[in-house]
Order: sequence, then C-alpha cells, then structure tokens
Amino acid sequence: MSTESPIKLTSLSSKGGCGCKIGPADLSQVVRSLPQPEPNPDLLVGLDTSDDAGVYRLSADMAIVQTVDFFTPIVDDPYSFGQIAAANAISDIYAMGGKPLTALNIVAFPITTLDKQILADIMRGAADKAKEAGVTIVGGHSIDDKEPKFGMAVTGLVHPDRVRTNAGAQAGDRLILTKPIGVGIMTTAIKKEQLTAEEIARVTKVMAALNKTAAETMSRYEVHACTDVTGFGLLGHALEMAKGSQATITIDRQAVPILPRTRELAEQGFVPGGTKNNFAHVTPNVTFDPSLDQIDQWILCDAVTSGGLLIAIADSQAEALLRDLQEAGVEAAIIGAVTGTSAGTGQGHIQVQG
Ligand code: CO
Ligand code: CO
Ligand code: CO
Repeated sequence: MSTESPIKLTSLSSKGGCGCKIGPADLSQVVRSLPQPEPNPDLLVGLDTSDDAGVYRLSADMAIVQTVDFFTPIVDDPYSFGQIAAANAISDIYAMGGKPLTALNIVAFPITTLDKQILADIMRGAADKAKEAGVTIVGGHSIDDKEPKFGMAVTGLVHPDRVRTNAGAQAGDRLILTKPIGVGIMTTAIKKEQLTAEEIARVTKVMAALNKTAAETMSRYEVHACTDVTGFGLLGHALEMAKGSQATITIDRQAVPILPRTRELAEQGFVPGGTKNNFAHVTPNVTFDPSLDQIDQWILCDAVTSGGLLIAIADSQAEALLRDLQEAGVEAAIIGAVTGTSAGTGQGHIQVQG
C-alpha cells in the first residue's frame, strides 16, 4: 500500500501549458533562417502569416485545416490536463473557421517512474473532450520522456471561401473576446499552491471549455478576422491580427474580462516568464495609456492556455453576435475596435486605453 501523497503533475516541469512555447522572438529568428518554401496555389494559409493553422485546398469547395499543439501539465489533475490539452489543440481549427474532424494524440511520459494510471487519465480526459467536439481520434505517437507532455495534431475541414485568418480586420470593426484572461498568472499560482479549490475549478473550467459554441455562433456571421488567444497572450495575438490586417487595434482595458484575483496574484509575483517575454515582444508596437502600470500591462500580455476566440466583426453586427454568444453560454465581451490602418508600414499597432 502506498502512503505517498498524490503526484502534483505541475511540479514535474518548470513551465506549464502554452507558457512552455518557445518565445516569439526566438522562434521568428529560427524561422527566418529557413529556405522559402516553393509557392503552391493550394496552400491557402501557410507559415508566413502567424495564423493558427495551415489550410490546404483539396477542391474548389473543400480545404483541410491542420494544426498541432502539445505542452506540459498546466493543472495537477490528469483528467483535466487531458481535457485542456485537447480543447486547446482543437481550438486552432475553430479559430480558422473550420470544423474539426480527426486527431492524433501526442504523448511524452516517464512511463517507468510515474503511475501508468496518470497517463490513462490524461488520455481519457482528451478522449472525452474530442468526443464533445465531434472529433474522432485516429491514432497517435508516444515517447518515454522525463517530463510528461500531451497534445494533439488535429485536422478539420473548411470551405476555401470561409477561412478566417488574422488578415481581414477592417477599420470600424469591433473586437469580441470569448473567454476571460489571467490564466497564466492563475496557473502559476496553482504551482505555488496559492489558489483555493474553487479558484482551481474556475480556471480549469475556462481552459477546458471548447471554442465550439463560439465558433458555431460566429459561423452564422460575416466575420472579418479571427484567432484564438493562447501562449502569446491577448496583446500578442491581437498584434498578429493587427499585423495581418495592416491595422491599428484599440483595446479598452476596462472591458477585458479578467479572472478574479489575477491582479492580486500578479502583484504577489506570480507572473510567468512567458508573460514577461510576451510583453517585451509586443512593446515596440503597443501604446499603453499612462494610467496602466506594469502589472496591468503584464496581465494583458499574460500567456494564456486554451483561451477564447478573438473576433473582428463589422460594428453593425457586433452587438448581435455578442448577444448570440452570451445566450449560448459563452463568456464573451466586446473589448475594443479596429481604429485605423497601418497599410504600407508592414506593421500592426495596438493602443490600450485605461
Ligand atoms: Co491559435
Ligand atoms: Co495556436
Ligand atoms: Co496552436
């Protein structure tokens, strides 16, 4: 009989969730050094636009959407970790306007030193989440590794004319965010045992929620641009949209939904390194209202795991979409607008109001 206390999954790795992504500055340095791929007219969305997934046209009315995501445990409960990893991986299909179809599991696990039941629970959480999404798991690959990691490669379908990318946001559009932020700071506090059981349940529920309902609701509207908010944080992903759309985006800090106690925990020092990297990366292209202090700025850059969709939609339709999302149970809010163009600069810009 074992007298050991249950394994804390988050203690097995130094970074958790999307916070373990290689930072945008390091990554772009590597990608820049690669040879340019051969142009292919059927590659509708490739490497060059910082989009969520690749899109490849099969016929005039059908394209496949492909994406992969995997990371270290972000919560201690294995079943919840599996759910979150699956919801996060599938999300990139929704963010492109696609319908997810199939998935492959990606598993790294210290199989000789950790209880196999933990891996079984992770995979059961992922399988349940895939089922909820209508996704069929068709296989996978596993390796014996010191730190556990889990994720999925997901394939979906989209009509080539209905692909939602970072490009396409237009001046006058409103921006809708469909989940609260603060996830990186909250989960860093989980690792340091600073959250109550209720707070852990709340942030787990946010991360494990599929973007399915948000995406299906969005599909009934003429959305101009969409991405999901993950490792690069709200401002990092908003900046990718601003860059892709050659736009200036204005975000109203007061309107951004933030998980309760995020600020308090950030003030106590639970700000992950990934969040600070994100802040450093976006700073040249962001103007913060002087009323925002460093903590406010970090929160807006906080590395999210399995965050919501960020949607740009014409002003005339924004309120209707918001109401539909909220009626469907999505924690959506209008958080800003596209306020200008940056065409010709090759850059995007973000202004944050206090
Ligand atoms: Co994404
Ligand atoms: Co992604
Ligand atoms: Co991804």
